[in-house]
Amino acid sequence: MKNIPVIMIIFGGSGDLAHRKLYPALFNLYEQGLIHDNFAVIGTARRPWSHEYLREQVSDAVHETHNEVNENDLKEFASHFYYQSHDVTNVEHYVTLKELAQDLDDRYCAHGNRLFYMAMAPRFFGTIATHINDQHLTGSGFNRIVVEKPFGRDLASAEELNKQITASFDESEIFRIDHYLGKEMIQNILPMRFTNPLIKNIWNSDNIKNIQVTLAERLGVEARGGYYETSGALRDMVQNHIFQIITLLAMPEPENISAEAIHKAKGKLLASLVMPTEADIKQHFVRGQYAGSDTTFAYRQEPNVAEDSTTETFAAGEVKFSKGPIAGVPIYFRTGKEFKEKKSRIDIVLKHMNNPYGRAHSNNITIVIDPQSEIYITINGKKIREAGIRRENLDYTFSKEEMAQVPDGYERLLHDVFVNDSTNFTHWSELKRYWEYIDTIEAAWQKENESGQAEIPQYPPYRMGPKEACDIFESATEHWIYE
Ligand code: BG6
Repeated sequence: MKNIPVIMIIFGGSGDLAHRKLYPALFNLYEQGLIHDNFAVIGTARRPWSHEYLREQVSDAVHETHNEVNENDLKEFASHFYYQSHDVTNVEHYVTLKELAQDLDDRYCAHGNRLFYMAMAPRFFGTIATHINDQHLTGSGFNRIVVEKPFGRDLASAEELNKQITASFDESEIFRIDHYLGKEMIQNILPMRFTNPLIKNIWNSDNIKNIQVTLAERLGVEARGGYYETSGALRDMVQNHIFQIITLLAMPEPENISAEAIHKAKGKLLASLVMPTEADIKQHFVRGQYAGSDTTFAYRQEPNVAEDSTTETFAAGEVKFSKGPIAGVPIYFRTGKEFKEKKSRIDIVLKHMNNPYGRAHSNNITIVIDPQSEIYITINGKKIREAGIRRENLDYTFSKEEMAQVPDGYERLLHDVFVNDSTNFTHWSELKRYWEYIDTIEAAWQKENESGQAEIPQYPPYRMGPKEACDIFESATEHWIYE
């Protein structure tokens, strides 16, 4: 693997994301030789850490995520880390940061390449971007910036943030990260759709009755009540992860598998995204909040959550496109906290077909994303001793050995940033469209809140979300496949 020279600056170097995801992922890329002698990482945050303390943190992060570690490699790897205590609003700090980056560039021969990573609270993204521009932090080689979600909290704020970032970076240099796009089974969607005649030939509105995307979580909001109050399930999960999944499921075949061709096919699809009317939203969208139990808090009792909060911890709805291979097919989604289990899955439900045997089951294709990786197809066959049709599963579950080979999403996506492959990142035009859609629903829900008519359904914890979510379908013959 080619060694990429670079100085990487992580805003939020003392944070949870850097510790749990970025440092272990960087170590793996170091072990593979993608970054080696010519790189340095500057971690910045407010806390007064030393270089040495950051290096200890990096070592701990690697130990916590790896069963076996080559200690000599880890020591050498950690020696490339530097810490700068940084107040994101202080101009002087950016000047110091720029000088440190230049010193390290000289020392490590990084060819003026800079990679900025926004891993801190999103409210600082705009300020940092503005300072990167005003204090000229970009280098003389390549410049790239990775931006964590949420990218704005509605279209207007996303546009503002984009303006601040594009003052220093071209669209091709901006990597808006969505960690779902780094997941094995999500990356499997396009190859599965376009290399199997068995699947490709039925992937159309003649054959597909509906598609269902479920991203369910067992956990509640935990300590993130403060952030979650500004977000809710729609902004936290639907605007990004669910929409990206839906786009991969509904987009037309790309001309080839380059980043450009894939984004072009996505763009073509998204131009035909049907915006729901208020009536559609009333009928086909549901929100909810988890209620408490004897042993657990209700959402409204969580720390930093308002007693009369209207923030949804569950959202379900229906998305449609007017063009593309599955034009007009309902794509139902739901996502929520405090479900019965952690489960991310996609169910593709095929239409029934007349047949000489009478009653048969629908064929479903199910892609399980988490916690295991699995694809199964339900098919009909004859019963063994009696007349009639029974349902069987053709099942492909990843073995333990295969699961062990699957890299963490962050490792995959960071690798892509280093090699400048933007296939699995969100393009601005996609993001814009997703926000337009989310804003439409938020506005309708806000109107309901203000009219005082709507009581947000409270759902019992650790079950399947609000029962109202079973009524969002277009026809009485549809229901959730995963229940
Ligand atoms: C994040 C959300 O983007 O995704 C979290 O902010 C959520 O609220 C998480 O818990 C779920 O990701 P995963 O990979 O665990 O399904």
